[in-house]
Amino acid sequence: MRMVDLIAKKRDGGNLSKAEIDWMIASYVKEEIPDYQMSAFLMAVYFKGMADDEMANFAGAMLHSGEVLDLSSIPGVKIDKHSTGGVGDKISLILAPVLAALGVNIPMISGRGLGFTGGTLDKLEAIPGFNVNLTVDQFRKQVTEHHEAIISASKEVAPADRRLYALRDVTATVESIPLIAGSIMSKKISSGIDALVLDVKVGRGAFMKTQEDAEKLAKALVTIGKAHNVKTKAVLSDMNQPLGLTIGNALEVAETIATLNGRGPKDVRQLTITLAAEMLVLAGKTDSTETAASLAGDVLRDGRALRAFRQMVIDQGGDVRVIDNPQLLPRADFRTAVKAPRSGFINNIDSEALGLAAMQLGAGRAKTGDKLDPAVGLVLHKKVGTPVSEGDTLATVHSNQEQIPAVLAAVQAAFDITDAAPAPSQLIRGFVE
Ligand code: URA
Repeated sequence: MRMVDLIAKKRDGGNLSKAEIDWMIASYVKEEIPDYQMSAFLMAVYFKGMADDEMANFAGAMLHSGEVLDLSSIPGVKIDKHSTGGVGDKISLILAPVLAALGVNIPMISGRGLGFTGGTLDKLEAIPGFNVNLTVDQFRKQVTEHHEAIISASKEVAPADRRLYALRDVTATVESIPLIAGSIMSKKISSGIDALVLDVKVGRGAFMKTQEDAEKLAKALVTIGKAHNVKTKAVLSDMNQPLGLTIGNALEVAETIATLNGRGPKDVRQLTITLAAEMLVLAGKTDSTETAASLAGDVLRDGRALRAFRQMVIDQGGDVRVIDNPQLLPRADFRTAVKAPRSGFINNIDSEALGLAAMQLGAGRAKTGDKLDPAVGLVLHKKVGTPVSEGDTLATVHSNQEQIPAVLAAVQAAFDITDAAPAPSQLIRGFVE
């Protein structure tokens, strides 16, 4: 086979066969195909797309470029959740103990954040001592015994995706639905799960800005999952404002603990319960999402989910005292209130701007390898739709630098205040299965 022929085929709108895709990915990983040819191919996909089976084969080839975990020794269904990424998204930290408390296995392999705020692993590492680098045997043992573990992906997972993602980043080909879907699913399926629920974010603070694009991505993800015998369902959720009231690693852990104590912001609870309900149904716990939602609500209310979280923190070496006393989490030296410049209603909160502000404080990475400050971030006091008076506190900035005028200005500008109240927005925007 010659790469030039495959590029031409895609350029002209053709679909590559499984054999062609397998050969292309294997040759690329062996460095027998140069980056300039792969770049041309990626750009052709960007313009011409991929057929469903082609996309599934593409994900499969990337998946088999690396390590695929075998979790078959763990009895019962193994299920995971993946979010396409949002500001203030701490749902995985809450969801894992909710499912574990109900006896459902949730082996989570998670990532670190780049840009906008930290990822799930960064948040967990705000708990002093928490170890996300378990061996596969430790991971299997913990899930077998206590139904949940959250760890970092090994370097061996889908190496083809790692190389292709870096190439896409510099060739303006990240924003292609088949490429995004293939990339996400190659990594997710490699963890040996039986079922997966995807939280596809839609809105200004998300990868997918419109409902239409979010639906297309959700369909692509579900198609790939099913082609690989993973029961997959997607929930579309709003990302036109940050999720919950905190952005920043330790602050988000504190909000997680509050939610596991039966408190926590309404949107965080609602999304957790919605995703948990879909996962419980896919895992075969019940046929009814209503029953499943009520089971999830019960364990958040009665302390069982909190107990499961405590067990995970113990298992992974974290300082369990933070659960009873979140004041022990890393704390920033300075707190600055950002005030409303006028009276009115919060019409919109620019999640992306707040994510970037938090990143500037040190809560997220500008580039891979940057060190995070777990203590810093933002606490929101107002959400979309709330009335405000001039001088009310919109947000508190937690920082370890005293002078942060640019961040304070960016946070204030992220709140759009209008005279009229905005139309109520829906957190859950749809389902794709
Ligand atoms: N996340 C991924 O893992 N891959 C993409 O291509 C985009 C987001």
